[in-house]
Amino acid sequence: MSAYSEAFGASIADPAGFWGEAARAVTWTREPQRILDDTNPPFYRWFPDAELNTCANALDRHVEAGRGDQAALIYDSPVTDTKRTYTYSELLAATARCAGALRGLGVGKGDRVVIYMPMIPEAVIAMLACARLGAVHSVVFGGFAPHELAVRIDDVRPSVVVTASCGIEPSRIVEYKPMIDEALDMAEHPPAHCVVVQRERQRCSMVDGRDLDWDALLAEAEPAAPVPVAATDPLYVLYTSGTTGKPKGIVRDNGGHAVALLWSMRNIYDIAPGEVFWAASDVGWVVGHSYIVYAPLLLGATTVLYEGKPVGTPDPGAFWRVISEHNVKALFTAPTAIRVIRKEDPNAEHLARYDLSGLKYLYVAGERLDPDTYHWAVKNLGIPVIDHWWQTETGWAIAANPMGLEQFPVKAGSPTKPMPGYDIHILADDGSRCETGQDGAICIRLPLPPGTLPTLWNADDRYEASYLSEHPGYYLTGDGGRFDEDGYLFVMGRIDDVINVAGHRLSTGAIEEVLATHPAVAECAVIGVADEIKGQAPRGLVVLKSGAAAEGLADELIALVRKEIGAVATFRLVDVVPGLPKTRSGKILRKTLRGIAAGRDEPVPSTIEDPAVLDALKGILG
Ligand code: COA
Ligand code: AMP
Repeated sequence: MSAYSEAFGASIADPAGFWGEAARAVTWTREPQRILDDTNPPFYRWFPDAELNTCANALDRHVEAGRGDQAALIYDSPVTDTKRTYTYSELLAATARCAGALRGLGVGKGDRVVIYMPMIPEAVIAMLACARLGAVHSVVFGGFAPHELAVRIDDVRPSVVVTASCGIEPSRIVEYKPMIDEALDMAEHPPAHCVVVQRERQRCSMVDGRDLDWDALLAEAEPAAPVPVAATDPLYVLYTSGTTGKPKGIVRDNGGHAVALLWSMRNIYDIAPGEVFWAASDVGWVVGHSYIVYAPLLLGATTVLYEGKPVGTPDPGAFWRVISEHNVKALFTAPTAIRVIRKEDPNAEHLARYDLSGLKYLYVAGERLDPDTYHWAVKNLGIPVIDHWWQTETGWAIAANPMGLEQFPVKAGSPTKPMPGYDIHILADDGSRCETGQDGAICIRLPLPPGTLPTLWNADDRYEASYLSEHPGYYLTGDGGRFDEDGYLFVMGRIDDVINVAGHRLSTGAIEEVLATHPAVAECAVIGVADEIKGQAPRGLVVLKSGAAAEGLADELIALVRKEIGAVATFRLVDVVPGLPKTRSGKILRKTLRGIAAGRDEPVPSTIEDPAVLDALKGILG
């Protein structure tokens, strides 16, 4: 039997045996005696009686094992022209001190800390410091506006917020601190303290009594020791877009997370301790949590923290420079990044300037890898280009080509095979299983493997309603797709109202909620339309209230979405339409809208209230 078949088969037939074995890679303060608690379905808990500290696994144990002088984190920031390497000993010292400082502000086990920061080492240190105290971090991506930040603060109710004076985008300085100030003014449950990293590029003003300077605070702090927590205690909450405007707080536990990420580093990514792994994402996304911060450090590898873009900082050779300079073995990024590099450097002339002999793999995820991008990367890099599919909810790959376990021939357009623990089935609307080759909803039979979400933050009911109720006994991924005759999975895209823009997940419902607040808008719909570089872009269709003027409206709506949701929404397309296609019960026919925008010859749905609307829309969108 092949290594993959053996591992996958064991994980489904005997999950406790398989993950119990994998758990040996973790240093526990209390070894697991029970592996899976399945007494309260559909809620499952991994390693229910075990204890550990995630930060101690990521830092202390490597120093104790003699890796103290090895590079843990390489900070490479073309936007500030800075490079700095932290050894494991240095990262541990800074983290322990940060943990001491947070403890001095009253942060303890189970307390929450919101982190709203650019890609600087202090962001990683703050995350690890929370883990050290058994506190729960909630990182909010810097591209979100104050209102979105306030919504997250009110849901997670932090004791402290950690931020920086600014972020540096190639075209502008993003002033983080005023956004924090505005969010804290808006929030109903603002924290008592805000810890601020003052960046030289642009310092910020401080609020007396509430705001504390990072450097001054850490200078006075005593290092804190790691606090053991239950494997089932939350390590972090990461908000992600659902189908409504209210983001979902994805909960990640400590024990299952450490076990799954360690397994993935060796078996999926083929990385060993001491090797350099680079996830070119942002700590505000799940890829950043799992593969910039936790997985490489849990393994004792070296992680790269890159504050820059694939192009423009300064040119489309930026990624190749980082790889050659820091001897990166595997790069993980989103297909968008490769598309944007290819657009500016189609003949890979910048790539040819660098020695990439150390680079063995390119991994991509976050959105569909289109075959053109795949072929360009393979041709110019000459290494395996591995598509893998996962979600904020799962925290690690649901389907991949596991380079460290068994290498399968790549089929362009497929993320290859289910990973251990993910018992994937393609289900039809009536819950029956689809045949090979037939498209349906991609579902995973419960229990999900370790490392995946046990629930949503303070919202068990919403967890059940969103993911588990459509097909009882299964987790609904929200993606559609099929298996082929060789057992390869093909992921065709979301079957709900979530869209993917430059590998960033957005809710069309959240944008609609903002558009609907404009006094001229009677009703609206937002759909994802194809975008050459970013995969998808949001497009708004608005119907005016009678007497309202269309002039200047598009600009106002674009500005409104940017103000309320943030630059990350990249909302730039608005059309005023005479009406929206709806069912007789008033539900907007989004699938029909998406089809028309994609130029498809959509059939007229039998449930449509007014078929004439479609002709008008075809003229505007087609
Ligand atoms: N803080 C504040 N603002 C941010 C930000 C951050 N951390 N990241 C992005 N933004 C802003 C950008 O400046 C931009 O603002 P603008 O409208 O004023 O230009 C806006 O948010 C949209 O950002 P983005 O969609 O990323 O567009 P971009 O033109 O800045 O960059 C890419 C495009 C393709 C280079 C970039 O999206 C990318 O590298 N994506 C792939 C990698 C990735 O991060 N994937 C995430 C999951 S793996
Ligand atoms: P996020 O939670 O931001 O990681 O987004 C998860 C969603 O991104 C998934 O549900 C998919 O729709 C999409 N996605 C992620 N990886 C892939 C992939 N390799 N192929 C196709 N879609 C993907």
